[in-house]
Amino acid sequence: MKVNGIPYRTIWRSKSGKSVTILDQTLFPHAFETRELTSVTEAAEAIRTMRVRGAPLIGATAAYGMWLAMQADPGDASLDGAASMLVDTRPTAVNLAWAVDISRRSLIHLAPELRAEKALQVAERICDEDVATNMAIGLHGLDLIKTALARKSFGEPVNILTHCNAGWLATVDWGTATAPIYMAHDAGIPVHVWVDETRPRNQGAFLTAWELGKHGVPHTVICDNAGGHLMQHGAVDMVIVGSDRTTANGDVCNKIGTYLKALAAKDCNVPFYVALPSSTLDFSISNGLTGIPIEERDGREVSTIAGLALDGTIRRVSIVAEGSEVANPAFDVTPARLVTGLITERGVIEASRPALAAAFSDKIRH
Ligand code: MRU
Repeated sequence: MKVNGIPYRTIWRSKSGKSVTILDQTLFPHAFETRELTSVTEAAEAIRTMRVRGAPLIGATAAYGMWLAMQADPGDASLDGAASMLVDTRPTAVNLAWAVDISRRSLIHLAPELRAEKALQVAERICDEDVATNMAIGLHGLDLIKTALARKSFGEPVNILTHCNAGWLATVDWGTATAPIYMAHDAGIPVHVWVDETRPRNQGAFLTAWELGKHGVPHTVICDNAGGHLMQHGAVDMVIVGSDRTTANGDVCNKIGTYLKALAAKDCNVPFYVALPSSTLDFSISNGLTGIPIEERDGREVSTIAGLALDGTIRRVSIVAEGSEVANPAFDVTPARLVTGLITERGVIEASRPALAAAFSDKIRH
């Protein structure tokens, strides 16, 4: 996507040819700064501290992290150490383990002197495939938006609610939930996006609103509690969210609060779609509620909030009564029965075991 007219991906090989450049998402929307990752330790730190975040992007970063490790030391111990360091950074999004696994399996049987070059090829292929996959998701989702448009009065926008950031910044380019939105906007279809702020880290307010704004897509930021009310009053035509892990039976794990949106959508007959690349599928798990590890993050993300003060400095302030306990589960699971459809690179499919198995039989490992 373009920022101030310049096309960017969210991650790329640095000019030196030896390191990786990312956009530091912990500074958004107040600053747009790049950061160079020169070692696997720095790649792991960037994922853990959420300088990069979003399931596909942490997978891509991990793949580059494997390349950085192989440049420093291509031996077996380094390979295994890098793989476990990267996988241990965040537990919920399966793309991370998926990317590390692809890289490790491509390298383990190679002579050490060939590993760095191969690791780079794998990382770049993962990035290019992510872009192509998201474009395919965008085209399939575009058809859904066109169908919604046909039900609107002339000139009225299609109102889409999204949660967290499953946008360009969560992937290498285009986003998953946002790809259909960008394609509709670019095709001249009037769209308007309700952006959930997404406490505690505010990825909606900080990231989704920023990138939609940069692309000129009309949008309105709402507090996380507003979605149900808007749906009850006919102000939402569809919900599109992303996924960090989708199970064999179609249960969807995504940012905390997604489940509540799905419940409200069901009650209000609003279609609830999940946009996901097949790298997010985990056929080894059947029950999302019991099988998916949910990341528990630092409680200070809940008890404090950071923002731009009127004097132009970024400040973090406390917002919870002193002494109160806080909990910070970062993801929740939306059962398949609440999902209208999965927007994948192979089309829009039912969130069910037979539909997933039919569409992605080649991805099931026996
Ligand atoms: O904690 P984050 O910011 O990494 O969470 C991101 C999300 O929950 C996204 O919706 C998900 O990763 C899908 S990204 C295309």
